[in-house]
Amino acid sequence: MSPKKIQSFSDIITTSRIIICCGSGGVGKTTTAAALAVQAAHTGRRVVLITIDPARRLADALGLDGLSNDPSRVDLACSGELWAMMLDARSTFDDVIRRESRDLEQQQAILENPFYSNIASRLSGSQEYMAAEKLYELSNDERFDLVVVDTPPSREALDFLDAPQKLMNFLDHRVYRWLVMPARGGLRLLNFAAQPILKTIGRVIGADVLADAVNFFQAFEGIEEGFRQRSVAVQELLKSSSSTYIVVACAHNDTIQEAIYFTEQLAEANINITGVILNRLQPPFGKGSSAASLTAARKADKTGDSAVAVLYRNLAHLRSLSEAQENALKPLLERSSGAVVVRLYQRAEDVHDLEAIAELGRDLVATTTTR
Ligand SMILES: Nc1ncnc2c1ncn2[C@@H]1O[C@H](COP(=O)(O)OP(=O)(O)OP(=O)(O)O)[C@@H](O)[C@H]1O
Ligand SMILES: [Mg+2]
Repeated sequence: MSPKKIQSFSDIITTSRIIICCGSGGVGKTTTAAALAVQAAHTGRRVVLITIDPARRLADALGLDGLSNDPSRVDLACSGELWAMMLDARSTFDDVIRRESRDLEQQQAILENPFYSNIASRLSGSQEYMAAEKLYELSNDERFDLVVVDTPPSREALDFLDAPQKLMNFLDHRVYRWLVMPARGGLRLLNFAAQPILKTIGRVIGADVLADAVNFFQAFEGIEEGFRQRSVAVQELLKSSSSTYIVVACAHNDTIQEAIYFTEQLAEANINITGVILNRLQPPFGKGSSAASLTAARKADKTGDSAVAVLYRNLAHLRSLSEAQENALKPLLERSSGAVVVRLYQRAEDVHDLEAIAELGRDLVATTTTR
């Protein structure tokens, strides 16, 4: 049986297992991710909201003292549950090592290795891989039916899609394979350090650092198969129909270009975006065009009704702003033709507490989705 076609944001929050919100800086990713999560919890789902963005804004808005790598329950009166957490890549990496190690000895050898400390927090892609890993863990956690992901404000926000593949490439790398090949009689380190090129590297980066690196790779031996299997599973999950991608954009040219960039990045990975949230828009002020309002203003001028003419001119101005925004958004809408689109208007105040987030969540599902 083919899955039910998604026709609204209400469908998205009731049927998805994972919702990933992406978009450029400041468009409202954190706010709309929280609004979707709150609304889903109101439909009875057990939702965990994960932010990869270290900004405190989400914790503050949810009324939490802070967020950690373990989900905290949000105090929300609803038929479901809302939990929230913030990715800590290092703790997640440590947990993976604990899980994959064959025994306590191997676990300690890795966790206490200085080279590991360095790569765990700095290895390019480790943050992204751990985001993907955490997402996988949460999606398999029986406490939750839905995971909502708030991505960081960067062009690289979707790097976690490639991170499992990159890790696999790293594990398949010739040098790595050579390093972890069983060392006969413990000679590997000696042989290794005796290589002229590595002697030179050792002189530059320090013999200790080099020795730590070799020890690390040797301690890592046997773990890579677990990593490899997990990488495949994580990648499959991110590309499966369980993962729903939402692009958030405002009606500014640069954020629209960024939203198009995200849409294209996803398309390259064979992923269609399911929803587009157009946020902070100017309201359209009823049906009718700015041109029609101007005509009405001129008519009022002729009949000497100057107060009415002023009102029509104001209306024409406001409508022309909304029309300009709709024109600017067209290229994005054309590129996301299969997605449901929702428009959220600029509110008078920032969305900084649970009540305002919940209101925005109601708007997300109540507003008719249109192209
Ligand atoms: N519809 C709206 N009306 C008014 N204010 C809004 C609206 N949506 C978001 N905001 C406000 O805009 C600001 C930026 O929103 P948010 O933090 O959600 O954006 P973001 O995309 O997550 O930003 P960043 O890229 O920095 O992580 C916040 O102060 C938020 O309260
Ligand atoms: Mg944010």
